[in-house]
Amino acid sequence: MDLHLTGKTAVVTGASKGIGAATATALAAEGAHVFAVARSPIAARPGVTPVTADLVTPEGVAAVAALGDVDVLVNNLGGVIPESMGAAGFLAIDDDAWQRTYELNLFATVRVTRALLPGLLARRGVVVNVSSIGARAAFPPVDYGTAKAALNNLTKALSEEFAPRGLRALTVTPGPTRTANWSDPGGYAGQLAREAGTPLPEFLKTVPAAMGITTGRLTEPEETAALITFLASPAAANMTGTEHVIDGGVLKTV
Ligand SMILES: NC(=O)c1ccc[n+]([C@@H]2O[C@H](COP(=O)([O-])OP(=O)(O)OC[C@H]3O[C@@H](n4cnc5c(N)ncnc54)[C@H](OP(=O)(O)O)[C@@H]3O)[C@@H](O)[C@H]2O)c1
Repeated sequence: MDLHLTGKTAVVTGASKGIGAATATALAAEGAHVFAVARSPIAARPGVTPVTADLVTPEGVAAVAALGDVDVLVNNLGGVIPESMGAAGFLAIDDDAWQRTYELNLFATVRVTRALLPGLLARRGVVVNVSSIGARAAFPPVDYGTAKAALNNLTKALSEEFAPRGLRALTVTPGPTRTANWSDPGGYAGQLAREAGTPLPEFLKTVPAAMGITTGRLTEPEETAALITFLASPAAANMTGTEHVIDGGVLKTV
């Protein structure tokens, strides 16, 4: 299936690893030219131009704004900050942690989207916001889930305001995805494994049952990237304002 992305220009935030890196690769494989944004240097590869920028700073947002008009913006940047990862509930998350979680998961995306919106409108482009099942259910930590819930609302608001002018906005909602956050000992799962006193490989075997992943496995980043790439493409030209869950069946509500 030709997704008609050849010649399109895309920005993917948080693209040095995980879902963002897989999305940059997938979009480039479909013929798009991708600006891949992260703080650490990314190796240039065919179809992928690295942009080194910290998107929670004004300078970082300005660096992305300077890229000019684009057709596709994938706001993939986000995650649980280390302080909140191990927090023992709501009372253990202080103002500073809330603020930094919202900078990373919401405000950086608001600013990048605002900066690129004129060009996206000129090209009748598309914004794909990468959320989390934490937006849809009360999984801890609460700062992360509420920031992602706000992101879902932002997607819908963008769609309502700008779809009449040709812009599409969509949410992709991953569940547990086998990125470094799960596979590296220093990541989210590594911390939970240490708290449980279980080696990480053994701990990971318990995750599907513990989290209710009906398919029995974590999602691969490339699977989420394929969904994002389809939604970003003209093949999905009449889809806007909708949320697309890729979680192996974790969310049980209809
Ligand atoms: N993995 C999961 O299980 C899962 C589940 C649900 C939702 N999600 C969501 O999916 C998205 C991607 O998750 P992931 O697990 O693939 O992420 P990841 O592996 O932790 O990668 C995060 C990316 O963001 C970049 N980054 C972090 N802070 C940045 C900043 N201030 N400015 C610019 N870039 C920054 C990182 O590179 P540098 O460190 O080099 O900057 C990296 O490329 C996130 O929004 C996350 O909330 C993930």
